[in-house]
Amino acid sequence: MPRRVSDQYRTAFVTGASSGLGGAFAEMLLAEGVRVWGTARDPARVAGLVPRHPGQFTPVGLDLADAAAAERVFLAAEKVAGGFDLVINNAGYGVFGAFAETDFAVWQAQLEAILAATLRLAHAAVRGMRARNRGCLVNVSSLAVEFPLPFMSGYNAAKAGLSAFSESLLMETRGTNLTVIDFRPGDYRTAFNQAMPSTVSAQLPADPRRTRVWRILESNLAAAPAPARAAADLRRALIRGRSGTVRSGSFFQARLAPLFARMAPDAGRRFVAAWYFGLR
Ligand SMILES: NC(=O)c1ccc[n+]([C@@H]2O[C@H](COP(=O)([O-])OP(=O)(O)OC[C@H]3O[C@@H](n4cnc5c(N)ncnc54)[C@H](OP(=O)(O)O)[C@@H]3O)[C@@H](O)[C@H]2O)c1
Repeated sequence: MPRRVSDQYRTAFVTGASSGLGGAFAEMLLAEGVRVWGTARDPARVAGLVPRHPGQFTPVGLDLADAAAAERVFLAAEKVAGGFDLVINNAGYGVFGAFAETDFAVWQAQLEAILAATLRLAHAAVRGMRARNRGCLVNVSSLAVEFPLPFMSGYNAAKAGLSAFSESLLMETRGTNLTVIDFRPGDYRTAFNQAMPSTVSAQLPADPRRTRVWRILESNLAAAPAPARAAADLRRALIRGRSGTVRSGSFFQARLAPLFARMAPDAGRRFVAAWYFGLR
């Protein structure tokens, strides 16, 4: 069994490396001796990693809002790297809002960025890995696949789609040298809530139910583990080197809640979730 991630993977492309989980993944990989290409919409946001890891980190500007451009950026970096052994589709954001009251263009942009553009990067990544007959693709999904969040319907739909996609690819790549990891974090203390589009806060005073849910999401994130824990979970999964679903987070969110979601009848799971968010 490999002892360091770099025993298995020498080059990695990590989207959304400027903050939160992606930042922790990049730091973990760099500490493990992997050469990392890390993205942010503004590459200046990841430039600080260059002097700390001379010759080991390359900043990349990539915006999921333009999937075709994002693919071109990926392919150009892949050429320079001589192929990526590891691709982590981590970049993403959420939209918080009532479904009907939020402009559909906002939901569409959400789906196009975090589902369609992410799949397009996965397509480019897997093409390269198949050609080299080796590699690992990690898609960062969410516990929201098992416990969908109220007022985040577009986000839930995108993450459920991403996990379903990983599930298909897991089967397609069985018996090959390609590894696919559906990585599902629970709550982590990142900038995720602050990065929600501003339309959200404008809606907040209008509906006490929505306000209550938002406050619960805020307090959950404030009390959640630091992203380094997700990086440690991912490191273990990479060293294990097996395709599959990896749940990461507090014991309650990474173990008990998914178990409950699988065992409980749908009506029971929905009742508990609605009770939790005060949506009776
Ligand atoms: N935190 C949690 O509790 C949690 C739970 C489950 C799943 N997740 C998932 O984990 C991933 C990372 O989120 P996080 O919590 O670390 O949030 P974060 O701290 O807000 O980081 C998000 C990252 O994604 C990048 N990003 C956002 N929108 C982008 C876009 N349109 N195009 C390209 N890059 C974009 C950001 O880069 P720039 O803003 O610098 O461009 C940033 O590096 C996301 O996929 C999220 O859905 C998070």
